[in-house]
Order: sequence, then C-alpha cells, then structure tokens
Amino acid sequence: MCGIVGYIGEQEAYPILIKGLHRLEYRGYDSAGVSMINKAGVLSVYKSKGKVSALEASVADKDISGTIGIAHTRWATHGEPNATNAHPHFSQSKNLSLVHNGIIENYKSLRTELEKNGMTFCSETDTEVLVQLIEYTQITHNCDLYTAVQLALKSVIGAYAIAILDKRNPDQLICARKGSPLIIGVGANNGKKNGKAEFFLGSDATPIIEYTNKVVYLQDEEIAIMNREGDLRITNLSNVKQTPQLHTLQMNLDELEKGGYAHFMLKEIYEQPSALKICTKGRLNVNDKDVLLSGIIDHKEKFVNARRIIICACGTSWHSALIGKYFIEEAAQIPVEVEYASEFRYRNPVIFPDDVVIAVSQSGETADTLAAIQLAKSKGAFLYGICNVIGSSIPRATDSGTYLHVGPEIGVASTKAFTGQVITLIMLGLAIAKEKKTLSDELFHMLVDELQQIPDKMQWTLDHNKGIDQFAQMFTYARNFIYLGRGYNYPVALEGALKLKEISYIHAEGYPAAEMKHGPIALIDEEMPVVVIAPKRGMYDKIVSNIQEIKSRKGKIISVVTEGDTIVKGMSDYCFEIPDTRDCYVPLLAILPLQLLSYYVAIAKGRNVDQPRNLAKSVTVE
Ligand code: G6P
Repeated sequence: MCGIVGYIGEQEAYPILIKGLHRLEYRGYDSAGVSMINKAGVLSVYKSKGKVSALEASVADKDISGTIGIAHTRWATHGEPNATNAHPHFSQSKNLSLVHNGIIENYKSLRTELEKNGMTFCSETDTEVLVQLIEYTQITHNCDLYTAVQLALKSVIGAYAIAILDKRNPDQLICARKGSPLIIGVGANNGKKNGKAEFFLGSDATPIIEYTNKVVYLQDEEIAIMNREGDLRITNLSNVKQTPQLHTLQMNLDELEKGGYAHFMLKEIYEQPSALKICTKGRLNVNDKDVLLSGIIDHKEKFVNARRIIICACGTSWHSALIGKYFIEEAAQIPVEVEYASEFRYRNPVIFPDDVVIAVSQSGETADTLAAIQLAKSKGAFLYGICNVIGSSIPRATDSGTYLHVGPEIGVASTKAFTGQVITLIMLGLAIAKEKKTLSDELFHMLVDELQQIPDKMQWTLDHNKGIDQFAQMFTYARNFIYLGRGYNYPVALEGALKLKEISYIHAEGYPAAEMKHGPIALIDEEMPVVVIAPKRGMYDKIVSNIQEIKSRKGKIISVVTEGDTIVKGMSDYCFEIPDTRDCYVPLLAILPLQLLSYYVAIAKGRNVDQPRNLAKSVTVE
C-alpha cells in the first residue's frame, strides 16, 4: 500500500526520494509524487498517475533541486487514482506540502468545518484535509508548525503516518504516526555525516537501508522534528518529550535486489531452501533432537495451560495458519481456531484470559491482524507474533513471538514467507508438544529429524521440476482452475489457487477434494484444469478416487505426486514430483511447483508478476 520517503541533509533529495519510491513499488500503488524545497525557497510538488517511472518522465524538464524533500506512492482509498488525488498535497497557501499513509475516518466532518471557515480543496482525498487542518490550526492559534501538527492531530480519528515540508522553514522536516508505520533513518554519527546532519524517512526500511542501518521506529501518537544541525526531537501529542530508541536494521541491500532473476517472486521461490535453513538455524537441534524456540521457552506455562489457541491472519498467512492448526492439534493436543483477522475483530468473539492468540503476518503491519490482537489483548489473552519484518507493529504489540528470518519478501505474491510461516508453526507445535509430553520421544525425534531434511527436499523439488515454463503456456486459455487437496494439503490447494489468482488474474478455487462433489464438480469439463495434490501418503486411495471422478468428466489433471508414483501419474495430463516425507511436511514441498506454475502462467499471459494490479504487499488499511 502507500509508501513514504523523506530526506533532509546535504545531498540532493530528489535522487534519494525516487530511488526510495522504486524500493517501495513492491507494496502496490497507483500514483506517485515528490515535493522539494529548492535553494531559493520554492516548494515544488510533482505528481503523476501510474508508475514511478511516469513521474520521473514528467519531471524531466522541471526544477527538482533541493536538499530536503518528501515523496509518496499512493494506493487509492478516497478518490480515484489520478494526479490530483496523488500525494504530496499542498495546503491552501502552498506553504506546506504533506504526504500521508493511512485513513482519516472523520475527514468529511473536518472538511465541512474547514470549508465553512474558508478553506478550499482541490482533491477528493482525506489527506488534503490533514494538510489544510494543520495550516488552519497554525493560522488560528498563531503557533509554530510543530505545535499546529500536535493540535491538529488531536482532532483526527483514524490512522496516519505523515511527513510535512514548510517552505518558510527549509531546515526542518516534521513527521508523525498513529497506526501506520514510520521509520526515521539516522545518518552516520547519529545524524551527522562528516559533520553534516542527515535524516531519512521511510514507511518501511527499504528506502533507508542503502544509507544507514541506524533507525528510530516512531511510536503511535509521536511527532518528530529533525533539522540540519542533527537534532531529532520526539514528543507525543501532549508535547511530552520521548527518548528516541536507536535500533540497528538487520537487512542488507542484496536482499532488496533481484540477484539475476527476472522477478523478485522467482528469486524468492528459489531462495526457499536456504531461507528455511536460516529460519530453523539454532531452533532445530538435530544432535539433541530438540526444538528450541525462545519465545516458547520463556512463556511455556502459557502454552502448557492454554485452554485454546486462536490464530489470526489474512491472505496467505491465513493458509499457513490452517496448516499450523492441523499440526498443533495433532502434535500438542490443544484446540486451535484459525480466524480471518478482519472477521474476528468485528464480531465480539469469546476470548478467555487463558487463551493464547497468535498473529501470523509476513509484514507485521496488516491493519486487521493488528486490530485483532489488540482486541484479544483487551480480553486478557496472551499474544504471540509470528512475523517476518523485524521491528514491525505486530511483534511490538505482542507478549512474545518468533521471527521467520527468511529475509525481506518483495514479490507481492507471498512465497518464502508462506513456507517460513509453516515451518515456524510446525516448530511451535513441536515445542509445545515437548512441554506437554503429548508425543512419544521416538515420534518427536523422528519429526525433528525429518524436519531438518526439508530444506534439502525443497531443493530437490525445485531441481526436478524444470520445464514448468513450457507447460504453463498451455494454460493461458483457461478462465478457471480448481485446486484440490485433503488434510494437510487442503490449505495447499487454497494457497496454490490464491497464487494463480493474484498474479495471472485467472479465477481459481481451492477445495477439500471430497467436497468437490458438493458443487465444483458441476464446473468440470474438458476445458477445466484441476490441480490435485496427491502424495502417496495417508489419504492416497481416497484422492485417487477423486481424480477418477474428474477424469470421467474429462477434466485436465495436473497432479503433485510422490517421486516414483505411477498410478496418479498415469491418470494425469501433467505431473510434478516431490520427495516422500511425512504427511504434515508435504505442504512445504507441494507448494513449490504450484508457486512455479502460477509464476509461469502469469509470465505467459504477460502479467506484471511482482506488482499485480490492485494488490498491495502490506495492507495497512482495513
Ligand atoms: C496482502 C498480501 C498477501 C498477504 C496478506 C497478509 O494481501 O498481498 O501476500 O498474505 O496481505 O499479509 P501479512 O503481511 O499479514 O502476512
């Protein structure tokens, strides 16, 4: 979703801002803009619909100089995507320009009030209301900009991360946040580079990491002002001074590059074996046949005595949560409920103080997931976060948790975060099972041993499923796909279908294979590709019967089978092989060819794989 970049220092701001906007493209957006103050004190704003490259083209003959600036990628909420609604927005006097992430819920009443008082508006956005409100407050209170921001934000309901330029004061940059992340990058020497002060702003770390790894995460209802002297002052809305906490970013620039791959998604698919090795490092101890998750060890009584576990998540994370449910229930014998965070937060759910509520989120910023755990916290539940982005909002709002450590995921369609979440939930299930002694030692050791081998089996799967690019060409005609799986592979069917929908825009449904008879079977004809996850394990015979039912209605079968299987292979139009593994670990292997299938179908259809239309990587509005 929307992205913010900001800069104040000695360097030209525009190249830093544009590079930052490119880094933020992965979040999903539909327009972009920049604002700078040049040496002569002119405050410029340039905006355009579409890609950042369109913005760059549109400023080719403009004055883009200045050593202070803000920039934005907008994912439309209020008002269609066009240059007028794009950020930055000027205030009426054009003294101020402002960028904003989030949603101002009471923007209509604020706008009506401001209009009554003579303020005029150019756009349909809630953001323009903010900048006008700040200007109006400054005029009516005859105060400095910082105080005006504090006062104005007190009357705002909703979520915001904002950055503001004031042409009357080109030596200071002001920003604030509530409910939407904002990170301040502190240039070398605590804001001073070669004696010169330098600060960066980003809605996430990706526009900042190139310049500094020292950052301050702005907290909710905090306002910060930074200047060219290297001063960074933070207060809350009531003007109480806050001490900035300096953190070191755990990220390197290579992780933000494609590394020779055509797309981030492809790179991230192929990275999974190594990413999962890092994810399990120090956590799976094969010598001692043990699982060590510090987030559990420190709070084991909460898990041992849990009445229930509720997992809240959205999108792909919801699918991994479902696999987690199956495993935790089987291994640790605790009832687990999996909830769409967006539903859970609004339906007054029953939550007991001895419930453990787990939030699963790649970004750690999904607005609904964050709100769901805040609700659970208000009812006294213990909160656990399983997130990828270090320092994001969900890990900071939970009592304990585990980071995935799979590295930044840039492709909008989640791949390595999914398998990272699944393996983390499995480790969590094993760690609880150990504490609760619900598994025999022998089975526990076997599960640990086999889990350790999964990254190598993933590598085998990737190496042995070449040629999907050719095969995928045959399916560009398809308007629909069905994905079927049973047990642990039902969530894989859901995730496989979601991957295809997200990036190829082909409609796809994931179904429990046996449920097919209750509806989807009516859709099957010779045009319908049906992807079946059919490993030679638990419910093999049953899934073979399901395949027969599809075959007799002339559906096209694409199957995922265990290496060496001949029965399903013989019934399939195309087959992906995976190595044999325990039922509970099959999803970690079976999803790989399905990720590649969706990637190559999307490529064959000429889609923008890394930035699919309308989608956002980090859904920071509800
Ligand atoms: C968006 C992304 C998905 C992701 C979902 C949940 O829809 O495009 O890839 O699964 O949000 O995001 P989270 O960061 O909470 O896992």
